[in-house]
Order: sequence, then C-alpha cells, then structure tokens
Amino acid sequence: MSSTNRNQEPKTINVTIDGKGCSGVFGQTILEIARENDIYIPTMCYLTKTLPIASCRMCIVDVEGVDGAILSCQEKATDGAVVTTNNDELFKERQNIMKLYNVNHPLECGVCDKSGECDLQNKTMEFGVSGQNFTTKEPARPVQNWGVVSYDPALCIMCEKCVRVSTEITGDEALKVKFGGYNSTIENVKQDANYKTLGEAAAVCPVGALVDSRFKYTANAWELTQIPSTCPHCGGGHDVIYEMKHGKVYRVTNNAEFSTLCSASRYGFDFANEAVKKDETAFKSALKAFETAKTILFSNEVSNEEAFILQQLKELKGYKLVSKEARAYQKFMKAYGLVTGQMLSNGSLDKLSQSRAVIVMGTRINDDAPIVKYYLNMASKWQRARVAYMHPIEDSEIQNIVTQFIKYEAGSEEGVVALLANTLLKDIELPENVRAVLEDLDIGNLSAESNVGEEELEALAKSLIKKVGFSLVVGSDLYAHPRAENIAKIIALLEKYAGFNVICIPPAGNGKGISLICDLDDETEGATIGYNVKGDFTLSALGDGDLDMPAFSQQEGTLTSLSNRITPMNVILEYGGYVLNDIANALGLSARYTIDYTKELPLAKGYKGVEFDSLEDYFSATGEEHRGYVLDNVTVDTDVSIEEVAEINGFDGTVIYNCNPQEHFSAFTAKSNNLTKEAYLLGSEQFATAAKLGDGDTISYTIDSVKFERVFKIDTSLKGTIALNPTFDMGLSSALLSSYRFNKVDLERVGS
Ligand code: SF4
Ligand code: SF4
Ligand code: FES
Repeated sequence: MSSTNRNQEPKTINVTIDGKGCSGVFGQTILEIARENDIYIPTMCYLTKTLPIASCRMCIVDVEGVDGAILSCQEKATDGAVVTTNNDELFKERQNIMKLYNVNHPLECGVCDKSGECDLQNKTMEFGVSGQNFTTKEPARPVQNWGVVSYDPALCIMCEKCVRVSTEITGDEALKVKFGGYNSTIENVKQDANYKTLGEAAAVCPVGALVDSRFKYTANAWELTQIPSTCPHCGGGHDVIYEMKHGKVYRVTNNAEFSTLCSASRYGFDFANEAVKKDETAFKSALKAFETAKTILFSNEVSNEEAFILQQLKELKGYKLVSKEARAYQKFMKAYGLVTGQMLSNGSLDKLSQSRAVIVMGTRINDDAPIVKYYLNMASKWQRARVAYMHPIEDSEIQNIVTQFIKYEAGSEEGVVALLANTLLKDIELPENVRAVLEDLDIGNLSAESNVGEEELEALAKSLIKKVGFSLVVGSDLYAHPRAENIAKIIALLEKYAGFNVICIPPAGNGKGISLICDLDDETEGATIGYNVKGDFTLSALGDGDLDMPAFSQQEGTLTSLSNRITPMNVILEYGGYVLNDIANALGLSARYTIDYTKELPLAKGYKGVEFDSLEDYFSATGEEHRGYVLDNVTVDTDVSIEEVAEINGFDGTVIYNCNPQEHFSAFTAKSNNLTKEAYLLGSEQFATAAKLGDGDTISYTIDSVKFERVFKIDTSLKGTIALNPTFDMGLSSALLSSYRFNKVDLERVGS
C-alpha cells in the first residue's frame, strides 16, 4: 500500500538516490521513490499492497548524516536526503541475510513448486551464496494441507506477507504467526472455515512454502505460457494471468504485488464451451429464428463488443433488448445521475480503502462482491474505519470489521435510505424541494415500519462526526426494488450534498457494460432469442443451447468494470464454432472480427474510441494500473425532484433471499469443477422452526417462474427468519432470477 494514499495534500520533495535526482511526495518511503525512479533496492518481505512488514532487512540503505543502515521500505524520505542503495557493506549485510535464510532451508528446488519463480532462489544467486555453512537442529515440521493451499513450514522464511494479506486485504484473518524463535511458523487458526481466500495469501508467498494445492507438482513455472486477461465473473474487472500448457489452463495468477483476486477468479477458470465445431444447420436455424424473433433476451455474460452488436441489431431490426439485471441497474443509475448530474457515481475503491467511516446497505457484500469487501476490510484495518452494515440479515463473516449492524425489514429500503438521508443531511444546505421531502417524512412511522430505531441512526451519525472520508456502498437489493429510482435519488443526495464516496456495485459479469451500451427494454415481446438465457431459440456458451457460443475465455473483447475501467480479455482456449459477429454479419452488419467494435463503443457514454490492439495491459513498477482505460464521466441533465416515500410493503410468512455463496456469480462459475457445486437453501434454526423444516429436507418453491427443488440445510452461523437461496446453479434460468432479492415463497416439502 503506497503510504502516500493517506496524505491529503501531497507536497513534492527531492531526494538523491545513488547520485540520481529523484522527486517524490512527502510521506513516500525511500523505497517507493526509488521504485518510481527505476532504482533497484532488493526486498524480501515488502508487499506494495500492504503496510510495510519490515521483517527481512534486505532493503537497508545508507542515508547521509544518519548512523547505521535504515529500512527503506518503511522509512519516509525527507526533502534533500542523499541515499546510497548499494556498497560493499550493504552487499555483505544482505549476503549475510541470505545466508541466514538458507540455514537448514532444504533447497529442494528440483521438486519445489516455486522453482523458477522463487525469490529465495533468485536472491541466493544474486548475493553469491554458494553453500549452506550453518545448520541447526531441525524439528519435525510436516506439510499441512489447508484446502486450496498447502503449507510447508520447512520452506517458510517467515516474511509474513501471507499473514498481512489474510489480515489487511482479504480479511479472513485465518493466518497468524506462531512465535517460537527459530521454530516460528505460520498457523491457520480457522482451518474449519476452509477459506478459499487463502489462495490470495499463497499468491504473495515469495518461496514454495504456501502453494496452490491443486497446482502443486503438476508443472514447472518455466513450462507455462502466460496469457494476461480480465476476470469475467464478478464485474470487478481484475487482472488475471492464465498459465497454460498443452492448451490447458494449469493455474490462474495475477499481479499479486498490487491486486487481489476473489476465489471465483483464481479457481473458477474452467468454464469454456469445449470441443465446439461449426454447426451449419444450427447456424441456419439461428438466422431463421432471428428473422421471426421480436426480442433478444440475454444474461450479463456478454462482452462490451457483443452488447454493442446487440444494440446495432436492435437499431437495424427493431428487436427489444431485455437483460433484466442490467436494466434494473441502468434505471437506478439514470435516476442517480439526475441528482448528481453525472452518468457515473463518484465512488472509487481506493477512496473506500482510505475511508474513516463506511456505510454498507442493500448488499450481502461478502458474498455479492468479495473484492469490494476487501477494500472495506482495508479501511477497517488501515484507517480503523467505523463500518455500519445495514441489512435485513446479519453476516457473521464480516463481524470482525462491522462496528454497527443496523437491521431493517426486507422491503423497507426506501424508508431506510430516507431515514439515513434525513440523519446525515440534517445540517447541510439542500434545495428547498429536497428539504421539504425530508421534513415531511413521518420519522416515527418509517422507523417503526423499517424497524430502524432513531437512536441507531443517531449513533451512526455520531460515529461520523469529526471523521473525514465517508463511503457508502450499495448493492443490488436496491436496484430491483419497486421504488428503486427514488431510492437512487435519495442516495445520490449523499454524494452530491454530503460528499460521500458512493459505490453502486454493478451486477456481476458485464452488467455495467451492458447498461451503458444497450438501450434496454423492460419486457419481452413475441418470439425470443436467448443468449445464455433460455429463449425460443437459445444461443449458449454453456454448451446447452440451440447454437453454441464462445465462453468469455474463448473470445477477444472488453469488459466494463466496477471501477469504470475498460479492460481487454484475450483468447485462452480454442473455440471452433460460430460467434455472435457471424450472425450479425449475416443479418446485415459488417465487421471482420468482434473486436472491430471496440473502437466503436459509444463515446456518449464515456468510452474512448480506442482500438482493441492499442489497449494497454500492465502495471507500472509502483503499481499504477495501465490496463485499458477508464471511462470518462459524462455530464447528464439533472432533475433533483424526490418523491415522497411510499408505504412500506412488509413481508410476512416464509421469506428467502437470493444470494450466491462467496465464490459463485453465475451459471459460468457453476460450471467450474474447481469451485463448490453445493447449492443448498440455508436457513437458521429459527427459520427451520418457523418454516417447519428439518435439516436435509428436500423442498420445492418457485421464484420468477423458475422452479427450485433444493435440500434445506440449517446453518448455525445464520440468525433471523430469512433463508439464503443460491441461484448460480440454475443454468440458463440463472439470468431470469433478477427480481427483488427478497421473496415470499410457498415451500413444499418433497422429501426428507
Ligand atoms: S522455496 Fe525456493 S529456494 Fe526453497 S526449495 Fe523452493 S524453489 Fe528452492
Ligand atoms: S508462508 Fe510464505 S508468505 Fe507466509 S511467511 Fe512463510 S514464506 Fe512468507
Ligand atoms: S523489505 Fe524492508 S524489511 Fe523487508
């Protein structure tokens, strides 16, 4: 983590490093300035994305006028400092550190997973350590299997990078140092939880101590071809590197020094539509179906370019374009923009990580958007942020970072955001019409109906006093709410008038890109073409439609991320079938390749007309992201009229909440054999009693005309009377499950 992130007003300083004049900003460490100026200082424990660990001493430098070597990774540079990064003494000291690292280190490089990409191996060579001159008595330290990773204490150099990632970034807090002098080790204090986020800890391990259990002993690093791309699952647009051998993905890595993946990204890469050949008969049937269809119904799993093709087809043939989740988000953001005057909200993940106070509402964030939860965790760990989590269901997985849980009734979101705005905008000047709506609120009634006590809101408001840097994170519970547009406008008041950093988590996949590129319709009409959704004629990258389509990993294109970044996806796996562009060309459009449309993406929506092959795809040495480009935020017309809050329609009876487990987002993650396949209806003991269900009962129910048959499981970590219903495993029906996430259902027991 750059230490400059927390500075409010960066002041330029000048430093001389190895005779080179370098400029930086006040608050930066010597190491940061050196790296920015392409000056090499060796490190072993430094990890850019966390606070300095300062456990290895490899980064020592001399500073003129200062006695003794200092740690450049944690020492802030001062204006005018003269720094030497290397001389005989420094070299010897670093060499001695490497000798110590090698005491008893087995140097089993021939069989070690890390060989060829190991920091210890590299620096042992770099500092000319040619033998192991010392040994100590080695205690028995067996390899431990921790699910997705395995830990070999004999190879561990105790740099603590893994612990810092587990604590500061992913927040699973599973890894701790077990102190014991020379016998110190890392321990997993939450083995029962079997966290897949440990993959993120393994990704930063500089040696072969913490490795991917599935990849272990399958290939040498130097045999793998690396293909950079963008993860298509959650909408976070993260950098992934597919590491391939013999046309197969062996593992997914990333620029772990700077970015962190979620488990779907790291492990859910096996979702390709394999062994597809051009099926001319099916293609002709598809063209016929397009002749009679009136609607194209599609899921979030289409690229920006495919979304653009669909929009062109709408303009050419008059199809209705229906993509329910993206449409709900589009309407929400349009209403939001009417208040702020900008097409996009101002929210940034970096600002979230720097916030001193955060409110999360309308999302089960740990499951819906693990990446956003990481930034929330960073705010909690780095800034000791107050985190208010507002939701109808408590989440034990985030209780380590939540400082105030405010439970509201399902369905009462409009009333809750109105109460929130009323509390947080109390002393802020507002347009008269907005002030009038807030003054007209029947606080007592809203409070009673939503179950949010005025004292809870007062406590929340007090926790924000004297804090700077507020963030508000909202999610999809709000987008499909019947009062979504008024909710959006009220939330936008907090950005516009109270300066909140507001993150509206977009739907998974490429929901954000679709919402910007397509002129979407609300309802289908006539015969339908389904794209990754069941239609009268179905195009499917899942391999179960009337005509095969390529999965994201089998086509070039771009995605639009939560952070408004347009990033490239590259072809990883072969695909021999037809693509949407073939159909579009047969229907009258004309483009040789799908990516010919990258430069055509709508400028009016902030896209920049850049050719696919010109998109950058790298991080600088200091972690600056040069991946694709960031959308321009376009100015839009305003209309700051807020409607009165509608009567709250509460939910009685058996209520379930559509919510996927942390590693799943869609029918594509469901296809992955590396991710869990289990999809139970999970409820608390209280839910089981109220619904008269026993653990293991098979039940059926219907949501959005989609019939479910699921095994019910009691989850003792859950509280309350609302059960969690996964939808990721519903194949071509997954995208149909896009209504308001809380549903009252009739459960029918069909087995026990
Ligand atoms: S951790 Fe590095 S140095 Fe140690 S055995 Fe593995 S490759 Fe060799
Ligand atoms: S397991 Fe790896 S990352 Fe963790 S302390 Fe040991 S060497 Fe460092
Ligand atoms: S990099 Fe500075 S102490 Fe390890």
